[in-house]
This record gives sequence, C-alpha cells and structure tokens, in this order.
Amino acid sequence: VLTICGSLQRSSSNRRALEVVRAELEGLGVEVAASPELGLVPAFDPDREATPAVDELRARIAGCDAVVIATPEYAGGIAGALKNALDWIVGSGELYGKPVAVVSAGTSGGVHARRDLVRTLTWQGGHVVAALGISAPRTKADDTGRYTDRDTIDALELLARAVAEAPHWSATERLEHVTEITTRSGVEPGHIAPVPERRR
Ligand SMILES: Cc1cc2nc3c(=O)[nH]c(=O)nc-3n(C[C@H](O)[C@H](O)[C@H](O)COP(=O)(O)O)c2cc1C
Repeated sequence: VLTICGSLQRSSSNRRALEVVRAELEGLGVEVAASPELGLVPAFDPDREATPAVDELRARIAGCDAVVIATPEYAGGIAGALKNALDWIVGSGELYGKPVAVVSAGTSGGVHARRDLVRTLTWQGGHVVAALGISAPRTKADDTGRYTDRDTIDALELLARAVAEAPHWSATERLEHVTEITTRSGVEPGHIAPVPERRR
C-alpha cells in the first residue's frame, strides 16, 4: 500500500493519520511505502518532461495494490500540492482501476476536500473504496500530535482494513463500495472506471 500526504508541513495531522493507517496495515502483514514528498513535484505542465520525483511517484503508484491519501482542505478545496501531483498522473494512468482510500484531517473535517478528491480520483480512473473526515484534529491528539481519541483511531484502523481487503474484493463488492462513495460525493456513477475483467 502506498501512502500519500497532501500536507507539506512537518507537524501535520494528516501525516499523523497516515501513521495510524500504516501501523494497522503493518500489523496485518501488509507492506507500506510512502510517496515522495509532493513538494518535490514541479507545477504540472503538459509541455514539460517528467522529473525524477514525478517518475518516482508514477512508479510507486504503479507498483502498489492500493493507495491511501490524506490531505488538508485549503480554502474549501484540495491542497494544491496534491492536486498538482495528481494532474501528473492523469496522462500516464497509474491510478486507473486502483483502489484508493481518502482521509482529510482539518478544522471542519475536510468535507469539501474529500468531495473534490473523490471526483478527481474517479475522473482519472481511481476506485475510491473508503473515505474519512477528521474534524478539529488537534483536539483528538496529544501535545506531540499523536492521535489519542479512540473513535478517530478506530475509524482510521477500519479504513486501513478496508484498504487491505479492497484488492481482494469481487468486482461486485468493489463496485458497491465505489458507487456508494462516489454517489455520496455527488460524482456521477458514469465516471467510475470499469473493474478489471479478471475480478468478475
Ligand atoms: C491556508 C489554509 C487554508 C485552510 N483552509 C481550510 C478550509 O477551507 N477548511 C478547513 O476545514 N480547514 C482549513 N484550514 C485548516 C487546515 O485544514 C488545518 O490546519 C489542517 O490541520 C492542516 O492539515 P495538516 O495538519 O495535515 O497540515 C486551512 C489552513 C490553512 C493553512
């Protein structure tokens, strides 16, 4: 499983959320890798050649079975660094048919960031299989930023287990999960990429 953090700041509640997910996945025997820092990815330009950071991001997504993205909401939308990185992946298609879980930790639980992210991921072929918002994250963590709120930890662990299982779901199960999340986010089901034939 590949984790991607949309926050570049060192003390990040989204990065901390990914740590909880990572610990749960590793406890299940799942190998977890982190994406390159999104701050290293240049502004997307279709005229420009991919840089090593873009190549690495593409290779890591291509090489994983599922992705977990945690991102802040900035000004009612997805953090720009994340949207920029995702734009580099549209043409190369590494997210096509890939199970993806979405987390947004932020003041109001990142409701707009999650909705926008579900749309962006779905439009580039990703299968969003789980989504979670964490509101007022600092109130759910200790002074070091480590989550201590039991409900938040439980929800992140549940999401981690869904991510671990998603690659093994039948096509019908996957479509059910993806359709529920996309519909809830106001994304038209017609944009959902087909589930690979071998899963039917
Ligand atoms: C420039 C900026 C814009 C923000 N806009 C929003 C917003 O629209 N909605 C929201 O819920 N929180 C907003 N926040 C608060 C962030 O969601 C919050 O600081 C979050 O913890 C950042 O994630 P991080 O801790 O992973 O870096 C904003 C913060 C910054 C710095």
